[in-house]
Amino acid sequence: MENFEFHNQTKILFGKGQVSSLKKEIPAYGKRILLVYGGGSIKRNGLYDQVMRELRDIEAFVIELEGVEPNPRLTTVKKGINLIRDNQLDFILAVGGGSVMDSAKAIAAGVPYEGDVWDIVIGQAKAPSNSVPIGTVVTIAGTGSEMNGNSVITNWETKTKAFFNSPYVLPKFSILDPELTFSVPRDQTIYGTVDIMAHVFEQYFHASNNAPLQERIGEAILLSVAETAPKLVNDLHNYEYREVMLLNGTLALNGLTGMGVNPDWATHLIEHAVSAVLDIPHGGGIAIIAPHWMEHVAAVRPEKVAQLGVRVFHLDRAGKTDAQLAAEAIQSLRELWASIGAPTKLSDYGIDDKEIELMTERAMLADQIGSYVPLTKDDVRKILRNSL
Ligand code: NZQ
Ligand code: ZN
Repeated sequence: MENFEFHNQTKILFGKGQVSSLKKEIPAYGKRILLVYGGGSIKRNGLYDQVMRELRDIEAFVIELEGVEPNPRLTTVKKGINLIRDNQLDFILAVGGGSVMDSAKAIAAGVPYEGDVWDIVIGQAKAPSNSVPIGTVVTIAGTGSEMNGNSVITNWETKTKAFFNSPYVLPKFSILDPELTFSVPRDQTIYGTVDIMAHVFEQYFHASNNAPLQERIGEAILLSVAETAPKLVNDLHNYEYREVMLLNGTLALNGLTGMGVNPDWATHLIEHAVSAVLDIPHGGGIAIIAPHWMEHVAAVRPEKVAQLGVRVFHLDRAGKTDAQLAAEAIQSLRELWASIGAPTKLSDYGIDDKEIELMTERAMLADQIGSYVPLTKDDVRKILRNSL
């Protein structure tokens, strides 16, 4: 293992009716609140009214930032920063999915920073230690943003999607009530499911020696997702499936499986480049790219893909080489994702060859990306072409 520090401050309030904890949790941070949410799902499913009742109970002063886009934009983040500065707000309540939570984090870091918040997003400046405190009410399982310090923001003018990570933007608390995810449509449920599995893969395919426990924890999450997802997509209002998936999402990216390992993250860098250029759903892009990435990996280092096949997809090792097992593992993954209805080709989103060069360039944050099998620009171009 690599040396590591692990400190995750987020208090998780999980289960039915936990929204009523807002009035207990918020006052410690102040009562002048920026309420951040997305394009209206929380108004349609009644959550907005529920949250507002809680805020009224504590006599909070509330300013709203609504309309955060999926693949949230820098322009929206800047709007939020101005709202906090102009109204001297002291707390951000993010009610939504990864896009809303990630925007809240960038706003939180941008308020005390004197320069352009984009400097923080692209890593040219650090998030200040006096970033505005955040709490979240999660409405969709997937990104794990509720219990990590990541924020992914798109600068639409330059078609660049970038991310930062800071302990100073970790939510103080996150409310996860599975019932709040009942209204997530089937397609978004599928994207979230794929994203959770991909977060495990990114850390499972690491460049460190001796992380058997982290790998076993990752496999347990993958098994749990694989068992639950096919049932969930056909029974979207099932509390038990929703609660399992919600917890899968949080544990897949809260630092647990990444302790002491040098993770890969190449699939995510490639997908972020795709969704920055053509604004497609993150989990949809991952579903398409991940199997092609895994095929590339299997051609260079098949043993870990083979291990995944045996331990997660129950393949029988007898008489097979790692290369054969790896090919079967990838086939099993494709079958699982096809069975829940995940997209398989970039052309399903209308993406064709002429975008590939720009996406390849955007994905290459360095000469090589990824750690388990480092990818060159040619490798990335090939993976994207295979994904068309
Ligand atoms: O905007 P509204 O109207 O709320 O609708 C949203 C949106 O259209 C809808 N939705 C969410 N909860 C719902 C619901 N609809 C009905 N009922 C509900 N309960 O779902 C759509 C997608 O929402 P979004 O927040 O964009 O989805 P997700 O949670 O998948 O977040 C995606 C963003 O997170 C980033 C992605 O790149 C993308 O920008 N990521 C963030 C990560 C992190 N912070 O750690 C890691 C991830 O790998 C990912 O990169
Ligand atoms: Zn992801």
